Amino acid sequence: MKFSKSLIALAVGAAIAATSYAQAEDKIVVGFSQIGAESEWRTANTNDVMAAAERAGVELKFSDAQQKQENQIKAIRSFISQKVDIIGFVPIVETGWDNVLREAKRAKIPVVIMDRDLKTDPSLYTAKIGTDSVEEGRRAFRWIDEYVTKTERTPRNGGDKLNIVILEGTVGASAAVGRSKGFNEAFNTSPNKDKYNILASQTGDFTRQKGQEVMESFLKSYRDDIDILFAQNDDMALGAIQAIEAAGLKPAQDIIIVGADAVKGMFQAMIDGKANATIECNPLQGDLFFETCKKILAGEEVPKSVYVEEGVFDASNAAEVFPTRKY
Ligand code: AHR
Repeated sequence: MKFSKSLIALAVGAAIAATSYAQAEDKIVVGFSQIGAESEWRTANTNDVMAAAERAGVELKFSDAQQKQENQIKAIRSFISQKVDIIGFVPIVETGWDNVLREAKRAKIPVVIMDRDLKTDPSLYTAKIGTDSVEEGRRAFRWIDEYVTKTERTPRNGGDKLNIVILEGTVGASAAVGRSKGFNEAFNTSPNKDKYNILASQTGDFTRQKGQEVMESFLKSYRDDIDILFAQNDDMALGAIQAIEAAGLKPAQDIIIVGADAVKGMFQAMIDGKANATIECNPLQGDLFFETCKKILAGEEVPKSVYVEEGVFDASNAAEVFPTRKY
């Protein structure tokens, strides 16, 4: 991890343990609840938030929820009782936020959502900055469909359909729900729909370890039938690559590997010939987040929802693009 020394302050355990990074009284105080550190992407997002807080000259109270919604709710309540100026958080799952957001509203503390979406009364938060996970899912299927068509890929088992397996993200997380929705939508509306079969789909919780374990179990059941893997993040794809190699198969050749996030680890896998493509999910949202917070506190109008820019990268351009990657 690349936190600057003055910013090292990850909260421990269920308690909020929020830490101030600046003492000046006139600074804006932002309480921020992060999900945890489940992936390379999340670490990049946390690093970016911390660095952007310094650039913005705000006092950041940062809390790590260690993958538990209840810890995020505790952190938000603690920010309310500390009377911070504004609250930001990444909703680990889409639902279950109404009560705590009502408490923030009653305390007249604006809330800005980062990264993931949530399902709640929109009047309970002021703005949302994040990524379009439905579009990411669509892009994943479209990349697969184009690649399969271009390479005239045929099923490994000699059957008449290419079998796809899916490693889903955290159950109930918008990043997982959206990517599944977009992928299924692109699949169901594709003129090539009949070429494919979704063989299995299971959560790998956005972690490398779980991605590896679930891929191992897919391979136990369907070793010679799987043609394509869509992992809803790169960490799960990288875990799956280990499982595929352990099963004596060649990732990116025997099984097409598509991830999401575009982290450096996945670029390296593409350069090494072990992965085919990654759909970008941009974690660099910190500057926009703090800029939005400042505008809100200055009484300016801000858009209700903003998506950051994202691309698609594959093995054909990975080596060229790699030196320019920031995370
Ligand atoms: O919400 C963004 C997702 O969460 C990223 O794809 C994943 O890597 C992270 O854990």
